[in-house]
Amino acid sequence: MTQAQYAIIGGTGVYDPALLDHATEHTIDTPYGSASCTIGEHAGRSIAFMPRHGKGHSVPPHQINYRANLYALKEIGVTHVLATAAVGSMRLSLPPGALVIVDQFLDFTKGRVTTFFEGDKPVTHVDMTDPYCRNLRGHLQQTAARENIVVSDGGTYVCTEGPRFETPAEIRMFAQLGGDVVGMTTVPEAVLAKELGLCYATVAMVTNLCAGMSGQPLTHQEVLDEMAKNVHLLRQLFFAAFSTLDPSASSCGCRTAAGSMGE
Ligand code: HPA
Repeated sequence: MTQAQYAIIGGTGVYDPALLDHATEHTIDTPYGSASCTIGEHAGRSIAFMPRHGKGHSVPPHQINYRANLYALKEIGVTHVLATAAVGSMRLSLPPGALVIVDQFLDFTKGRVTTFFEGDKPVTHVDMTDPYCRNLRGHLQQTAARENIVVSDGGTYVCTEGPRFETPAEIRMFAQLGGDVVGMTTVPEAVLAKELGLCYATVAMVTNLCAGMSGQPLTHQEVLDEMAKNVHLLRQLFFAAFSTLDPSASSCGCRTAAGSMGE
């Protein structure tokens, strides 16, 4: 089986593995179902690209097979994952186009499987002090500075069940609770990555002000249009980050966050 060292999970509006040389398509079987990705090379690194919502955005956020996706990446040898996420912003200081290296989440999902540790697996409570790998976040921040890409370092991602957008009352509540941006996918993706011992970080791209903040109804098209304008920045940031990443730096502790599963 072809192996990859790093992976990019592309969210809404990021469906193209661009910048990968010698790209080949793969379907990987896992105990949780199968997952598809493209594997190719960039700057001497082997990188897998996985569009989270499937090709053509056919899978809604609450029906994504997150366990198959993450397990498949682990199976092909991936150690570090960078994910994109389209988000609404609850802060006027983070307007459409802003990039946020999120560092915390609030979980408002409802019906998702959020763990590998059930059935015949031992009961395990994974540490979520750093839900996103702190080394990868630092590296993304340094890479962004080098590439002259403006990012906000840190932010709290509120994850909703979807697929509907939020009510203005929900947005007011989330903002009071300390949320900065709202999306529908970081849970359980970040949790499962940690359970598997993967270093994982998300860069959120603000595509809209949240419901009730702009005076206009919110549409999926608006989200897609804003992503299309800025996706090149995410691509530049991720590929530059992977070309300069030292994979042996493991002071983050992600590898063993859930005990032996990551080793
Ligand atoms: N809410 C939830 N998810 C989103 C939004 C939003 O406003 N924008 C992009 N993804």
